[in-house]
Amino acid sequence: MKSMSYEAVMSRKNEIMKTAVGIDYSKFEFGKIGFDYEGMMANVAYSMEEMEEIQRRTKVGKTPLFELYNINKLIKKYAEVGKGARIFIKDEAANASGSFKARRAAISVYHAKKKGYKGVIAATSGNYGAAVASQAAQLGLKCIIVQEMYDSRKIGQPEIVEKARKCEAFGAEVIRLTVGPELFYTFLKIIEETGYFNASLYTPFGIAGVETLGYEIAEQMLVLEGRYPDVVVATHAGGGNLTGTARGLIKAGATSCKIVGASVDLKGLHMASDKDFNRKSFTTGHTGFGIPFATQPDRADVPRNAARVLRYMDQYITVTQGDVFFATEALAQMEGIERGPAGNISLAAAIGLAKTLDKDQIIVVQETEYTGAGKHPSPQLTFAKQNGILVKRGLPAENIPGETVVIPEHLGQIEPTILDLNSLKKRYLQNALKDYAYNDLSSEDQNYLADEVKLSIDEVKSLIQK
Ligand SMILES: Cc1ncc(COP(=O)(O)O)c(C=O)c1O
Repeated sequence: MKSMSYEAVMSRKNEIMKTAVGIDYSKFEFGKIGFDYEGMMANVAYSMEEMEEIQRRTKVGKTPLFELYNINKLIKKYAEVGKGARIFIKDEAANASGSFKARRAAISVYHAKKKGYKGVIAATSGNYGAAVASQAAQLGLKCIIVQEMYDSRKIGQPEIVEKARKCEAFGAEVIRLTVGPELFYTFLKIIEETGYFNASLYTPFGIAGVETLGYEIAEQMLVLEGRYPDVVVATHAGGGNLTGTARGLIKAGATSCKIVGASVDLKGLHMASDKDFNRKSFTTGHTGFGIPFATQPDRADVPRNAARVLRYMDQYITVTQGDVFFATEALAQMEGIERGPAGNISLAAAIGLAKTLDKDQIIVVQETEYTGAGKHPSPQLTFAKQNGILVKRGLPAENIPGETVVIPEHLGQIEPTILDLNSLKKRYLQNALKDYAYNDLSSEDQNYLADEVKLSIDEVKSLIQK
């Protein structure tokens, strides 16, 4: 009998994961730090045509793309003459299970079935659990979702509580945990006990599954406007959304489209803290995930994360929680559609950005999710107040994560904050180099690092020396 103690299970981590995803990551590693990312994506993932067919069979993809006529008109009122770009949304709520995460889950669950696994397991408190459960239901596989759901008082964020119900509605078993380090241990233990496939968010299957999203945006814009968009805004947390979308756009030929990441600013809140866990209104798409995953992508539950945003991101914008509540209300009351908070992070960023761009420019926003009982502004703001957060109207600059949610009074007040991408790239490089000196690296390793941060070798050198 194997020991199931915390230490014993953690020490078997690598072998458990290898059996549970079936990928030998070491085949792609080289030099001191390098790994052949494109080689991994080409060898492990499915082709675009295969993915489109896999997704079609389980009600994923080919989602609509609309122009926001009324919001666009209002933006022009707050922009200088000649400014005010047009915003379109890619409506991912139309996927089975209601979010873009279905694209990832469709490919992972298909792969699990093909390889003969009896079930799938995922550790997530977000839309991905529902997406995996919905796909597993359609392919006749068992499904376990491990959720970090409560603080130590056993109180759960309304959005996470709702998500557990949704997973169960699709027939999955949900294991509800309190916030803390036991998540990974429990996850590993269940994988080992069941022999199920680890439908990790970060495998090449999952990330490639999102490529169809970027590909569709490019194809649909060609039909609608005869050209590719100038900018695509993607909500960024763990990085799969932005990475997959950017790769899909490039595969479709939209190589000069600018890729903008958007996150809610939750500076000062600690994601693993029992106290802070319920002091945020947004459970994803925030800087608490977005910054660490950008600067240290391999902190994921697989040895090499296929989501690597600094390879693709041209700009990183943050918005406040209040901005997102405003964008959610504007979408509902001006455009007649309600969508979930995660996608409206990108919408808020795009509203700010549109005011600064020329009026003939086109921005596509990824509306990545449905809305529902726990995601609406009303339960979210009530929950915030119950947790001692002050909710009021006013200037976005008055937002203090964990203390206030300040909703702008008018659209003119939404101003995106543009983060210094080079300082994130520098942090990535420091993390990747760890104990190695840059000058001791081979040219292959140096090229790898340059690709990782979308810079030339000379630019990397000067950034490291700064
Ligand atoms: C609806 C929605 N949009 C965007 C994101 C961000 O995606 P990623 O984690 O791939 O960056 C998530 C992830 O939790 C999500 O559920």
